[in-house]
Amino acid sequence: MENKNGKVALITGANKGIGKEIARQLGLLGFTVVLTTRNQNEGAKAVEELVAAGCDAYMVALEVTSASDIANLAKYLEEKFGKLDILVNNAGIAIEWDGQPTNPDKVRRTLETNLIAPYAITEALVPLLSLSDDARVINQSSQLGSIDAAEKMWQYISGFMTVGYATSKAGLNMLTQIQSKTLEVKGIAVAAAHPGWVKTDLGTDAAPMEVEEGASTVVSLVTIAREQFPHGQLVHKGERIPW
Ligand SMILES: NC(=O)c1ccc[n+]([C@@H]2O[C@H](COP(=O)([O-])OP(=O)(O)OC[C@H]3O[C@@H](n4cnc5c(N)ncnc54)[C@H](OP(=O)(O)O)[C@@H]3O)[C@@H](O)[C@H]2O)c1
Repeated sequence: MENKNGKVALITGANKGIGKEIARQLGLLGFTVVLTTRNQNEGAKAVEELVAAGCDAYMVALEVTSASDIANLAKYLEEKFGKLDILVNNAGIAIEWDGQPTNPDKVRRTLETNLIAPYAITEALVPLLSLSDDARVINQSSQLGSIDAAEKMWQYISGFMTVGYATSKAGLNMLTQIQSKTLEVKGIAVAAAHPGWVKTDLGTDAAPMEVEEGASTVVSLVTIAREQFPHGQLVHKGERIPW
């Protein structure tokens, strides 16, 4: 890997789907990419693929809801790189889209993974992000977390509007706003991304967008000039999405 830019980017849930593609695109742009995965075999395969494509790629085991895994992740990054430049909180679930009614247990599990985990991971990595001269946190959200969209586009999106998923992403949007204010003093910029409806295990084959395009919103937020960074906003392909 000869074109390394000296920056370390961590992407959660990167063994497949949009996360793996974000890692590939950032890796090809010269970022050292750290993929977190809960399935070590799949993670190792993803890293092998990225290294073969010319990326400087590494893997760390992370079940995003595990406090001990998060602590181990912070330790690994500190020992291996001594800092972190980019955190992409990408791992997420939509377990309510199984054709069955949702229930409090599914809602709780969804909130744990999609909202509480990104909060806990970011908190644990703030000390390392503070050491970067251009630290950014991107929370992989969704337009389904937009209250404006729920109010105005209900007829188009109602089939996807399950309580756990939509409120987890609405919560992630508010977390993004809060983090963008509270982490600014530490030099950490924070925004949320809506990738579009993307063909993945979560998005299904019915989605119109391929992962290459789905990864582009996060990649542009990582690479956009610092002066143009949309602090605290939810963005899709460079355009702000209303809350
Ligand atoms: N696809 C879309 O249309 C779409 C639209 C809007 C937003 N998004 C968001 O984009 C993100 C990525 O979604 P995707 O479409 O790429 O889905 P995906 O292909 O299903 O990938 C999800 C990733 O998250 C990981 N993950 C889930 N729960 C985890 C946990 N508890 N601990 C560690 N890793 C966990 C999965 O790991 P395993 O393989 O081990 O399950 C996988 O790597 C999600 O946050 C999703 O909400 C997607």
